Amino acid sequence: MASILIAFESDTGQTSRVAEQIDAALTERGHEVTTNRVGEISDAAVTTFDAVLVGSPVVNRAHLPAVVAFVERHRETLSSRPSAFFQVSMASAVPFAAARSAAVGWVDDLVDRTGWEPDRVAFVAGSIAYTQYDPITRAVFKLVAALTTGDTDASRDYEYTDWDEVEAFAVEFAALAERREAKVAPTRTDRRRARVAAGVGVLIGLATLVYWLLGRRSDGGGDGGGGGRGPGSDPGPNSGVGTRERIAPTRAE
Ligand SMILES: Cc1cc2nc3c(=O)[nH]c(=O)nc-3n(C[C@H](O)[C@H](O)[C@H](O)COP(=O)(O)O)c2cc1C
Repeated sequence: MASILIAFESDTGQTSRVAEQIDAALTERGHEVTTNRVGEISDAAVTTFDAVLVGSPVVNRAHLPAVVAFVERHRETLSSRPSAFFQVSMASAVPFAAARSAAVGWVDDLVDRTGWEPDRVAFVAGSIAYTQYDPITRAVFKLVAALTTGDTDASRDYEYTDWDEVEAFAVEFAALAERREAKVAPTRTDRRRARVAAGVGVLIGLATLVYWLLGRRSDGGGDGGGGGRGPGSDPGPNSGVGTRERIAPTRAE
């Protein structure tokens, strides 16, 4: 089980709903998930999570400043553990190549600006929240909708989010966090291997001690300087098995 932070910001609620859906999918897989707006997360808390997802809508061709500032502040933490970014926009709701490349471009801008390269990125189709817009925004979106989705009835809102895609993104990220966790946390097999390695280390240490003692006996008790040769060794000048002096010649030599 990994502890996972979902840090997001949202103007009209859609990114918030996406964050909740990701939270539910990760929780269902047994992870401990904390979901919060970036402004409500203490800086110190961010480093305590095993993995982090960050989410932002696109507003006027950019991510919300609070999210960008969060990423800038926590770039190192985000880069040192599994991380993902989910971007919610209308560009991802329309089937035009130009819109798709614009959506990719906003993420590229974030990466260039902050230096954070998320392990996974989701391009999530957002919503048109006519009922929350001021008159000018409503008029602009009616025009945009007339040219794209055709959803121009401003008495209601329209949601374009593909919830199955959001779920799949969450599941994929969970798998990434689980793989990383498996690498970090030793398994039972790892622990058994570590015990065997420690046992082998002790045996090698004992064998070396016995070898050294036998060497001292065959030297007739040694010279007290700590050097010694193993039984049957050839003490040639360049053999590398010799006295300390031969390995590190003194100035007099
Ligand atoms: C003022 C405003 C500007 C927007 N600008 C863009 C934009 O530049 N590109 C885009 O793809 N979507 C744009 N959108 C659409 C939002 O990204 C979309 O409605 C999203 O679902 C909003 O997420 P939120 O409800 O979490 O705030 C804009 C929406 C608003 C209200």
